Amino acid sequence: MANCSLAGFFMYSLLKPLLFQMDPERAHHLITGSLAALHRLPGSGALIRAQYKTTSPRLRQQLCGMQFDNPVGMAAGFDKSGALYPLLGDLGFGFVESGTFTALAQPGNPRPRLFRLPAQKALINRMGFNNAGAAAVRRLIRRQKRTIPRGLNLGKSKVAPLEDAVADYCASLALLADQADYIAINVSSPNTPGLRQLQAGSALKELLVAIQDQLRELARKQSEPARPLFVKLAPDLSNAELDELVDLAVQLQLDGLILTNTTLDHSRVAPERDTQGGLSGPLLHNRALECVRRASVRSAGRLILIGVGGITTAADAIERLAAGASLLQFYTAYIYEGPGLPRRLNRGIDQFMQQNGLQQISDLIGLEHRDPQRWQLIRPGGEAAGLIQQHA
Ligand SMILES: Cc1cc2nc3c(=O)[nH]c(=O)nc-3n(C[C@H](O)[C@H](O)[C@H](O)COP(=O)(O)O)c2cc1C
Repeated sequence: MANCSLAGFFMYSLLKPLLFQMDPERAHHLITGSLAALHRLPGSGALIRAQYKTTSPRLRQQLCGMQFDNPVGMAAGFDKSGALYPLLGDLGFGFVESGTFTALAQPGNPRPRLFRLPAQKALINRMGFNNAGAAAVRRLIRRQKRTIPRGLNLGKSKVAPLEDAVADYCASLALLADQADYIAINVSSPNTPGLRQLQAGSALKELLVAIQDQLRELARKQSEPARPLFVKLAPDLSNAELDELVDLAVQLQLDGLILTNTTLDHSRVAPERDTQGGLSGPLLHNRALECVRRASVRSAGRLILIGVGGITTAADAIERLAAGASLLQFYTAYIYEGPGLPRRLNRGIDQFMQQNGLQQISDLIGLEHRDPQRWQLIRPGGEAAGLIQQHA
């Protein structure tokens, strides 16, 4: 099985130079389209699963009624149509967040709108929520078999004025909520003019209260618990703004936060490579980690945190969990590292837990805050890890 996975990895490393010659968006559609077509062949799902899935009781957890086989998820933006969920479910992810979806179909910004910065393993995008609209997405995804937890990420339609944002989000929620295991409200994309203004405390409160009311009403009609609700925030908030929104999330009893979206801070991008849009990948790592750390301390365990931004290695994943994230996501690293990444991260987390006597993932989540001394001793790249490497 390890050999199969290795084969998949080497195939990607062979394909990557060709793909990287192409326009990034074309390359994305070519590779995901081909894989999705392959995945529809009878029996292929089981073969792909055998190659990419990690099974370990240490990685399993139940959160807000959802069962996660592992903590590694695909971030929003990769599955913008909703069509890739069945494939990603077999590629070793513990969950998938599809979207962003808007109430109205929209083409997004003109191309080119996605750019690679290979030297920094980064991406810059200004896609602008290109999607088929909530009604068409519903028709597509209602036919899909649910395998792993699926979040549906909702944003504001570009043509809806900010004053009508609540009605616009509620319109897509009405069409999609029953197809989701959790709902993610995106108020942090930098590519829809004005969207980030919805992160202002009062505006966000009004929006979230309306969404919670609608989710509760749906739950009442279906005699089910309300769908879990998460909000995705930007890394460019000041620490004071982040603290305020963490407090709001606690006050409204949201299920959690997704930290973070792409950044508008391009200070470490070479001027000749710079272009307008949200930056993702390793350059975002430190701030996204800091946001999780801060939100974890401030919320004192009352929110579930999904850590996203620059996660590329198993050490990054372990560090993000220890900082307080219960779940992880990535997008950019998948483009640079290929389809073996979920498995590599999951195996790395699992081995780390085994080596350090951590029985279940909750023993690792927030360890940095619960037992800082122990964390300093065992953290990857820390003193003890260095000693182990020296003696290996
Ligand atoms: C091409 C691209 C498109 C994205 N589209 C969305 C989106 O539609 N909705 C959203 O919430 N985040 C979107 N994101 C942000 C990612 O979900 C993630 O928050 C961000 O890229 C940081 O993670 P990473 O460094 O692992 O890529 C997008 C990112 C990229 C690179």
